[in-house]
Amino acid sequence: MKNLTRRRFGKTLAGTAAAAFASSSLMRAAFAQLPAASLLFPPNFLWGCATAAYQIEGAVSEDGRKPSVWDTFSHTPGKTFHGETGDVADDSYHLYKEDVQLLKNLGVKVYRLSISWSRVFPDGTGQPNDKGLAYYQRVVDELLANGITPYITLFHWDLPQALPGGWQSRDTAKAFGDYAGYVSGKLSDRVSHFFTTNEFVCFTDIGYKEGRFAPGLKLPDAQVNQIRHHAVLAHGLAVQAIRANAKAGTQIGLAENATVYVPVVESREHIEAARRATREGNAPFLTAVLEGKYTDGYLQREGANAPKVEAGDMKIIGSPLDFVGLNVYTPEYVRADSSAAGYAVEKRQSSFPRMASSWLYIGPEVIYWAVRNVSDIWKPGALYITENGCSADDVVAADGRVEDTDRVMYLRNHLTHLHRAASEGYPIKGYFLWSLMDNYEWADGYSKRFGLHYVDFKTQKRTPKLSAEWYREVIARNAVE
Ligand code: NOJ
Repeated sequence: MKNLTRRRFGKTLAGTAAAAFASSSLMRAAFAQLPAASLLFPPNFLWGCATAAYQIEGAVSEDGRKPSVWDTFSHTPGKTFHGETGDVADDSYHLYKEDVQLLKNLGVKVYRLSISWSRVFPDGTGQPNDKGLAYYQRVVDELLANGITPYITLFHWDLPQALPGGWQSRDTAKAFGDYAGYVSGKLSDRVSHFFTTNEFVCFTDIGYKEGRFAPGLKLPDAQVNQIRHHAVLAHGLAVQAIRANAKAGTQIGLAENATVYVPVVESREHIEAARRATREGNAPFLTAVLEGKYTDGYLQREGANAPKVEAGDMKIIGSPLDFVGLNVYTPEYVRADSSAAGYAVEKRQSSFPRMASSWLYIGPEVIYWAVRNVSDIWKPGALYITENGCSADDVVAADGRVEDTDRVMYLRNHLTHLHRAASEGYPIKGYFLWSLMDNYEWADGYSKRFGLHYVDFKTQKRTPKLSAEWYREVIARNAVE
């Protein structure tokens, strides 16, 4: 089995553009240093961690920041677990240097962080707030001084409250483009990778249709589809604004939690069904962004509720990207069938295993199929896993240790399947583990822990968990086990 794995890596690479890499002395040297069982990742694979502004920063009223929709929502009684808010969170606004050291100790090469729009433009538009931007310049400088490359997400759900109508307004898409152009113009001397938006469905459908996230509305489908349209339009306008304002060569993508369809059986018919499902199941978001159009299926399904599209919108939405980022957690299993769509999504049995969050079903092959489906359909030049990780019921033992063996199990299995994608030649460039440390898990407050570091939210003490030790070893060896 061990040898098979190594042989397969070499064999599948041979005859592809990656053959040069496979035969390189670098590769041979890397293999020579490893025990036979290791699942070796490509040289220069980028290991990282991810966080987001509202989930870690705290300091919500400091240095000119004004509220985002998440400040308002979390302060509304009954909306979040125990009414918990991001007012203090991990206090990373003040402790960022300590957090950079956590990253350094792990040995990560890259760190994905997000910018709070309302720190930089407290009212969403208009006058920028220099102090807000200066904070991110300090963080970026600290990362670079420690040999860690920052990757920046421009929007991770914390929309400035002051923007009239939020995502219901088309003007918000324009405001986002302006903000993205401004920030990228200021930071691209030191930052070369930007993500526009993070997880469309979470700030459109879950915020405006289900009401479980900010701003907590339950609007009818026609309005929700228009909100989705404004979101993808905002992404496209941001891509154009970054290209216009940032240094030449700046790399642009997005971080999207596309629904990942795993074929029930790895046979041609089910693999094709998974591909069809990937296009249709992601039609309002990733498909629209990567194809510059809404699928016929989506427009037919929505009928009179379909979004109103202005001339030129789809071209903006489909602005070419340098890479695609995928946030990957949970699979949907799909089979071929004789329906018009040509596929059917399986129901999940009550016994299906999951982690601490109710939605976090475990199926580690999800990460392989995320990469493969997206690559086979849209052939992006580069892909990143922009999030993967899990919540677990972490316990601090009497000796202070957190032995999160379940998280290690989850990560080990996902990385094993990611290795398969890399070994088959898919252009997967890096992996950002969610998350560096426990943080504010949105409507779940502090009740769900996703970190490699345990955070005592009373003292702000960070303690590396077993998973941190495990991830450091993976990074050091550039291999899973
Ligand atoms: C996706 C989101 O981007 C992130 O903010 C969240 O904490 C994790 N998934 C876990 O739910």
